[in-house]
Amino acid sequence: MKKRILKVFQDKGILVDPDAIDELTGAKDAMKCVDAILSDPERPLVVTKADVQHYLTCQPVKTRAKPRPKVAPEPKTALPTSEEKPAEIRILKDITGDSTCVGNVIDFAKLFNDRFQTLKKILARRRELAGMMSIDRARKIRKDVRFVGIVNDSRTTKNGHTMLDVEDEDDRIQVLIMKGSKKGMDAFIKDEVLGIVGSFSKDGELVVAKEVIRPEVPMNNAMAPNGSNAIVAFVSDVHVGSSEFLPDAWNRFVTWLNKDTLAKGIAYIVMPGDLVDGIGIYPGQEDELSIEDVYEQYQEFARLVTAIPQRIKIVMMPGNHDAVRLAEPQPALPKEVSSMFDTRVTFVGNPCYMEIEGRTILAYHGRSMDDFAGNIPNMSQMRPGEIMREMLRRRHLAPIYGDRTALAPEQKDYLVIDRVPDIFVTGHVHRCTVGEYRGVKIINASAWQGQTEYQRMRNQVPEPARVPMVDLGTGDTWVEDFSSS
Ligand SMILES: [Fe+2]
Repeated sequence: MKKRILKVFQDKGILVDPDAIDELTGAKDAMKCVDAILSDPERPLVVTKADVQHYLTCQPVKTRAKPRPKVAPEPKTALPTSEEKPAEIRILKDITGDSTCVGNVIDFAKLFNDRFQTLKKILARRRELAGMMSIDRARKIRKDVRFVGIVNDSRTTKNGHTMLDVEDEDDRIQVLIMKGSKKGMDAFIKDEVLGIVGSFSKDGELVVAKEVIRPEVPMNNAMAPNGSNAIVAFVSDVHVGSSEFLPDAWNRFVTWLNKDTLAKGIAYIVMPGDLVDGIGIYPGQEDELSIEDVYEQYQEFARLVTAIPQRIKIVMMPGNHDAVRLAEPQPALPKEVSSMFDTRVTFVGNPCYMEIEGRTILAYHGRSMDDFAGNIPNMSQMRPGEIMREMLRRRHLAPIYGDRTALAPEQKDYLVIDRVPDIFVTGHVHRCTVGEYRGVKIINASAWQGQTEYQRMRNQVPEPARVPMVDLGTGDTWVEDFSSS
């Protein structure tokens, strides 16, 4: 039994404490418990005896309540032929229709409390934080304390150490991170939630951190084959209406979709925002518009979309150039816009969790990448994959309040990465990235706009007209390049 259990975990690349194996071996429902651990996307990085006891008492983990998914409307046109498998897009989490905020201080308190509680639950599964307590209680214990807090402020002391101001529901404390501490203890951003392992200074005024624990994603999220034959393509930042929009490249892409054998497998296109260029988005934009009315921009985009083969289901999300509120989470585009498109298009908010043919996709336009790049040393919008990794480590898409990303004071934090996706896609920075972090596919979905004057002034070099693809059956990823003929 012991060997069998060890092998199951080894095959999945999961580390298990010897005590945990003993606990499992002695349990009545050992294999049931192993199944529960393996099927939990939030399983700990290293399975301990305490984890085993948790899973043994809380089975079955699979029954953890999930929000009831909204089912995308069935298409009235472009029905699949009988031999095709019907397309399935399920919206798992999206602000659209559920916005509650009125914008007062109480709403912001609820937003941050929801963020704190959700991430605290994720952190509580970490072995390093076993026995964690509130800051208030830690003050009384003094030695070897473990707690979770939200970062109010981070500053560098004159000696080059980092001082964090961290708070939980009832108390706040200064946390000292010594200069030269190990990796992961050097890039703190405001309003992120983290776990601290440390001990109080002699005067009890601050905690000296030994370890900083980020919520993180578990190892080994690789997509196991699931039998789907569908390919999803990611097409971001089309920017119709901009004089830098690239019609020739777009036409090459659409021709390819209609004619190429490989393209026949494409069943879905996900568009993570900036569908049109909008108006009044940045200073001097009016000089770079070919269509000056935002509704005419959408009309032109709708015309372009009709040339995409009817068999392909499309998901459209807004970005910071689109005609919805700027504050995130953004709801789906309004009826005035959505009614211009046929019913094979599903309109979702930003961000949005969706499930397509059994794969969980987290799509986020990516405005906060500007804030990550501005607040973490050596991060750049030119390398969005690195920033997306930092989002996954913090399990949050846009933690910083008060910087360039406007946050709406919703009662629930829709920007928390509360479940680990199979695919995480962004746009916004107009780069083409396909990568992986702990098995999660990371994609930045290029653009269909050449370099604008605004980008030129900021040394932002786009990589337009590339289309990242994921085979939903095998998890294979690749990029089709339409930037030149
Ligand atoms: Fe954009």
